Amino acid sequence: MERVLSGMRPTGRLHLGNYLGALRNWVALQDKGYQCFYFIADWHALTTEYADPTRVAEYSYEVALDWLAAGLDPERSVLFLQSKLLEHAELHVLLSMITPVSWLERNPTYKEIRQELKDRDLATYGFLGYPVLQAADILIYKAHYVPVGVDQLPHLELTREIARRFNYLYGDLFPEPKPKLTEIPRVPGVDGRKMSKSYDNAIYLADSPQEVWEKIRPMVTDVQRMRRTDPGDPEKCPVFDLHRAFTPQEDREEIIQGCKTAGIGCIDCKRVLYGHLMETLGPIHERRKGLEVQPQKVRNIILDGSRKARDEASRTMEYVRKAIKLWPL
Ligand code: TRP
Ligand code: SF4
Repeated sequence: MERVLSGMRPTGRLHLGNYLGALRNWVALQDKGYQCFYFIADWHALTTEYADPTRVAEYSYEVALDWLAAGLDPERSVLFLQSKLLEHAELHVLLSMITPVSWLERNPTYKEIRQELKDRDLATYGFLGYPVLQAADILIYKAHYVPVGVDQLPHLELTREIARRFNYLYGDLFPEPKPKLTEIPRVPGVDGRKMSKSYDNAIYLADSPQEVWEKIRPMVTDVQRMRRTDPGDPEKCPVFDLHRAFTPQEDREEIIQGCKTAGIGCIDCKRVLYGHLMETLGPIHERRKGLEVQPQKVRNIILDGSRKARDEASRTMEYVRKAIKLWPL
């Protein structure tokens, strides 16, 4: 069976953008019968959040809740926490020996994120080595496919280069993993900008139905449509971007028609969206509420998953140690 692996940095509760851009696809891969390994990349989060690790821990728990609520199933997928797998650290150190610094310095996300997070000191060894750790995460499970967004392609290419170099130096051990590109739809936040935790415009999987409606109701629409009698243009409306993701084709046609002819008002339109949105979010919200009162259960699911992951990771590490032959006996 083909193996899929992916990770997520715990940087907060998951919102619709995270759901549509990654999580929904992870669940679909699980449902298609791939052997899936999904992990919370808390060490990766620490590369930028090292000054405040308690938040990383909190978010790891929140992410686990969101995953289970959204339909990742610990019976079928291995769900685990990176920092429980010391094997990742061992492989990371070994891969760091063979990875040229120039490969890391030319990594586009390295430059971009340092620009973005100017308030933090990211001139650290750990941050530069971010993709080496990611390569270890992937190669240790000999994953065939890695579902990621385009932003992660440079990291995956580096993983492939590191695998080739390892195989060349020590013998063929690692298959080169392929990206499984997730089509990332445009997911605007309630202010019309890209949905993001840092813009404070996000709809969270954890939001109650009421909170969801209170965010949708005042959401920015086609700015040209000022009065109820003005016709609007769904192509210029962030509300319609959400319709694309959640509303079935037929109802969407009606919205387009109604909007362009001023047949419907924006509040009517948002009510329709809310209805369809809740078809997805309602069950997620219910499951999340059920799990929130059982933190010990969530904790055990992740610890069990980490044990399952260790079976695989430690097997690979035995081969790695043999390949490098550090001890003559
Ligand atoms: N770098 C990824 C991100 O920011 C997270 C990640 C860490 C990851 N290790 C991974 C993704 C291994 C896929 C495979 O989204
Ligand atoms: Fe946007 Fe809907 Fe209003 Fe048209 S009717 S402008 S699609 S919210």
